[in-house]
Amino acid sequence: MSDLASSPNPNAAAPLLWQQHGPVLALQLQRAPVLADQAVVCAALQQALQQAQDDAATQAVLLLAGPAWDGALDAAAVQGDAARTPDGQALRAACQGIEAFPKPVIAVLQQRVQGAGLELALAAHYRLALPSARLAWADWALGLPPAAGGMARALRWMGAEAAAAWLLGGKALTAQQACDAGLVDQLLADGDDALAAGLAWAGQLLAQQAGPRPASAQLLASPEQALAELDAQEQAQRKSSRGLQAPGLILQALRTAVQQPWAQALAGQQAVFEQARGSAQHAALLHAAWAERAAAQVPEARAAAPRPVHCIGVVGGGTMGAGIAVAALNAGLLVTMIERDAQALARGQANVEKVYDGLIAKGRMSEQAKADTMARFAASTDYAALAEVDLVIEAVFEDLAVKQAVFAQLERVCKPGAVLATNTSYLDIDAIAAATGRPQDVIGLHFFSPAHIMKLLEIVVPAQAAPDVVATAFALAARMKKTPVRAGVCDGFIGNRILAVYKQAADYLMEDGASPYEIDAAVRGFGYPMGPFQVTDLAGGDIGWATRKRRAATRDPRARYVEIADRICERGWFGQKTGRGFYRYVEGARSGQPDEEVLAIAAAERARKGITPRSFSADEIMRRYMAAMVNEGAKVVQEGIALRPLDVDAVFLGGYGFPRWRGGPMHWADAQGLQTILADIQAFAQEDALFWQPAQLLQQLVAQGRNFASLNAAAATTEEQTP
Ligand code: NAI
Repeated sequence: MSDLASSPNPNAAAPLLWQQHGPVLALQLQRAPVLADQAVVCAALQQALQQAQDDAATQAVLLLAGPAWDGALDAAAVQGDAARTPDGQALRAACQGIEAFPKPVIAVLQQRVQGAGLELALAAHYRLALPSARLAWADWALGLPPAAGGMARALRWMGAEAAAAWLLGGKALTAQQACDAGLVDQLLADGDDALAAGLAWAGQLLAQQAGPRPASAQLLASPEQALAELDAQEQAQRKSSRGLQAPGLILQALRTAVQQPWAQALAGQQAVFEQARGSAQHAALLHAAWAERAAAQVPEARAAAPRPVHCIGVVGGGTMGAGIAVAALNAGLLVTMIERDAQALARGQANVEKVYDGLIAKGRMSEQAKADTMARFAASTDYAALAEVDLVIEAVFEDLAVKQAVFAQLERVCKPGAVLATNTSYLDIDAIAAATGRPQDVIGLHFFSPAHIMKLLEIVVPAQAAPDVVATAFALAARMKKTPVRAGVCDGFIGNRILAVYKQAADYLMEDGASPYEIDAAVRGFGYPMGPFQVTDLAGGDIGWATRKRRAATRDPRARYVEIADRICERGWFGQKTGRGFYRYVEGARSGQPDEEVLAIAAAERARKGITPRSFSADEIMRRYMAAMVNEGAKVVQEGIALRPLDVDAVFLGGYGFPRWRGGPMHWADAQGLQTILADIQAFAQEDALFWQPAQLLQQLVAQGRNFASLNAAAATTEEQTP
């Protein structure tokens, strides 16, 4: 604001700056009204409005906020704790104050207009927007509907169809879209000054003697049609809102707002907000958002500066190597790919180009942009091409000897200080590091398939890795927009190690009498997009079969081993790619049909082992599946493979399809009560004490009346205390 000297509160720390421009009082919000600030900012706003109301010379109020329009709830600011989510009371009063103000209130929107900022903006009587404005109900991702009347107001400004699509879809409206939808009265030009444009517009309004225009005075043309539109939107959004509670609450509030007078519309909205705020889903979604952020906070990244990375090498151009190359190119890096021979190299390059061609076909990339990107890509069969790279990611076959040979080559050609990373899924990275004379530079970068899309990146830290190598890996992850999680070295690290155990629980269920189809259905019913046997068919049954054969020699002879999958693989049924696996796939279909022959194979295996099949309810299936997951998760934390329970949650949310609205397995376990999980494990141990050994950490926490969240909180406190 230009002339602050005339402001009654020229203190920059004030929540609000105000300045009189003739008949217009301009109010500049200095801070977004969230969290602790909400009451302060809203009270200051109310006070300014009161003064403007009392002052006969003031004929209109201009609300300006700039970045402070972004009042979305920040999961990190509340450390994932839903008890700290604001109750919205002060915001409701401020919005009501704006709405009922007897003189016109005009808001000028720019940049991100979200959460509490969006509520204030919608309460204003008129809105102008700079092209930079993006209007989004960002708190939707945290399971929260608008707190302060935003739904009822959106309905009145936009109509039912557009309001429901916006509120349920969770996507931002551009300034132009908001204008087209009737939410914004005028789109300003790029470079317009918000204050000057707002004053000019206010001047016009006053010249036309336009009065206040509250949302409550906007009437819906046809409530019947509005209800029909809400029904249609409910259908349209059904798939994307599967399992989520907020969409249903939003629709309930919108229906109330269509059918009831204004006061009841607001009350109905407050009721659904309060219900959502106190819900398990909000707690889980807030935890999920926080866990993904907090996972990037690791001791090495605080202790050491990352090494600079401009160009990277990728060894292997198969499924993973190509995806990693694309992820690196998309992050603006120079990439050199190495393959075994010219033919494999051509395939690797084609794998990279295929991704960009797909984007071009969908109209999401231009030929020129592809050419510009590929100009940063080089390919060679000669390792000498890696002499100058800052970091190499190896993605060759999953075979220790092959990987060790690659790392010995890397040691020979790479410059001193280059980070040497492996994308291995299971192998011992300490043993890979030992193949070089520079184990301090070696680290695991475990991407998930497809590597350019999946957010999760396990950063696996071997014993001798230098802290700045770990810091470099986290910096690279940030540059690639990944969710990095620190893991220690063990068979399968965090995710695949835990997966192996709950997959085993699923196999035991199958051998004891549940069909793979019942198990998959139970897991989908829990909220996963797919069940474990569908995943096996998708990934290819041969991959797991090869791993099982590799591990046969080291398997504990006392451990129960289910051979049903082996019997299926022996028939050459490897899943989708062979048209048959646990399911049958008709030509080209991605979803399979149950297969009687698979059921017969399972029955024969049970008979061979003398197992009398029993039936399992979906609930019992999930209790076993989740108990296995949580128990192994606790062991992973106890051994320091994961730093905190939240790291396990971040892995399962980002890489394994765990339903986000359940917050991750460890959060879910806390919500059930750890004593319940432990009691289940102890009961299952009556059948198989070797498999169902309760984690010490789990027993300790139960004995102390604590939960996993207490370990997360303890880690967060230590972090706050570390400079
Ligand atoms: P892939 O078989 O598709 O690709 C491996 C590539 O490495 C082949 O193109 C092969 O020609 C090349 N290669 C083999 N030896 C080489 C050498 N000495 N020098 C240069 N290139 C060589 O395998 P994929 O699926 O890409 O897996 C690669 C690695 O990534 C494995 O360690 C795997 O465990 C890991 N991984 C795989 C995931 C997946 O979903 N496929 C997920 C995460 C990790």
